[in-house]
Amino acid sequence: MSEQQKQQTAKVYEVTVTAPVNIAVIKYWGKRNKKLILPTNPSLSCTLSQDHLHTCTTVRASPTFDRDRLWLNCVEERIEASERLLNCITATRQLRAELESKDPSLAPLSKWGLHICSQNNFPTAAGLASSASGYAALVSALAKLFELPLSEEDQSKIARTGSGSACRSMFGGFVAWQAGELDDGGDSFSYQVAPATHWPDLHALICVVSDAKKGVSSTSGMQTTVQTSELFPTRCRDVVPQRMEAMKRAILDRDFETFATITMKDSNQFHACCLDTYPPIFYLNDASRAIIQLIHAFNNQKVDPATGKPVIRAAYTFDAGPNAVIYAPKGAMRELVQLVTYFFPKPIDRPSQAYYSDQFGLFSESEYARLGSDIYDESVAEFKDKFSVFPPGAVRRVIHTSIGDGPRLLTSHSSSLLNDAGMPKRARD
Ligand code: DP6
Repeated sequence: MSEQQKQQTAKVYEVTVTAPVNIAVIKYWGKRNKKLILPTNPSLSCTLSQDHLHTCTTVRASPTFDRDRLWLNCVEERIEASERLLNCITATRQLRAELESKDPSLAPLSKWGLHICSQNNFPTAAGLASSASGYAALVSALAKLFELPLSEEDQSKIARTGSGSACRSMFGGFVAWQAGELDDGGDSFSYQVAPATHWPDLHALICVVSDAKKGVSSTSGMQTTVQTSELFPTRCRDVVPQRMEAMKRAILDRDFETFATITMKDSNQFHACCLDTYPPIFYLNDASRAIIQLIHAFNNQKVDPATGKPVIRAAYTFDAGPNAVIYAPKGAMRELVQLVTYFFPKPIDRPSQAYYSDQFGLFSESEYARLGSDIYDESVAEFKDKFSVFPPGAVRRVIHTSIGDGPRLLTSHSSSLLNDAGMPKRARD
């Protein structure tokens, strides 16, 4: 073994990153190419803060690893059983091999085994989509480990082959995924419309409506929609392109009213396409529909004296499940949290802190103690007589968060999810 080879073998080649969750305001639904995950329409999302929700992933390459292994939330998964994992690992490894063939002084990482350990900081039982943050973290970590000279846009093309929505988690702030036209997917990537700092006043309230696993996965549901819905082609052709342009403008202008109106209409049309799928797909439940009505009532409550029109102060959106995400200016969140926690009391077995924790200090200690049993802001007290209170636990958890940045590299040794031997620090059999 040469001196250089000895040094390379002794060195630890490891990277740890975190990547964020994103929630679309113009929904991706439908693929024109299932293998490459190419969408039928462009989409746009907000990246949520990693301080509250993220996937953390450590990747290590070593000549002592006899094969690639992956642990997800402490449980080992079979990489070879997942075409999507293989897409991301193979693509990045191949690019590394090309670099190594051009520069023989590079350590031959492309020939070594990989150990990958990935953990979400939110419970899987929360029912939040984790594939977007998961694949974004994986691709970002591999690109750094292999020192690939790839832009975030290029990385987003690889993350897209893991899960479509993952390509949008490669950036922070407000992110568009252009559908592209090429057959090889070369022009189907995401890009940043505006960074998180552009609109710090925009916050999000996630209402976890159900812990139950969803019946129809987005992957299979969207293909049935493509095959059977008559409304769907109209959405792709006549609705989404205009909405994309109007939404980008609204974000750049920080025009909440337009942002909110398009967000709600697009969520509704996506779920209308699901209902128009044959057989129909139902993602919303009674609690989801009650949240929709509550938000419309909230938006009708205040009238602008200058225009005589209601002031839109909140927008709901729903992915392929019953959980609501409510986007609103920070100033409206105090009232919204009171409404949601009052009409959807916490599960009996859950401590208040685990149901809603006051991350932004909206409430005094005594207010927080009464949260869920009372509405104490006069401005929204009138709602008590207008809606019925749901049984405890119809909403299991309420998470208040803001817009955040893209994948982060963690440099401290203690952030690694692998121990010195390259095995998970935390694992379950
Ligand atoms: C409703 O990205 O989970 O959340 O590409 O098959 O992995 P695959 O699907 P996925 O679909 C997300 C659908 C959605 C809308 C959205 O995020 O844009």
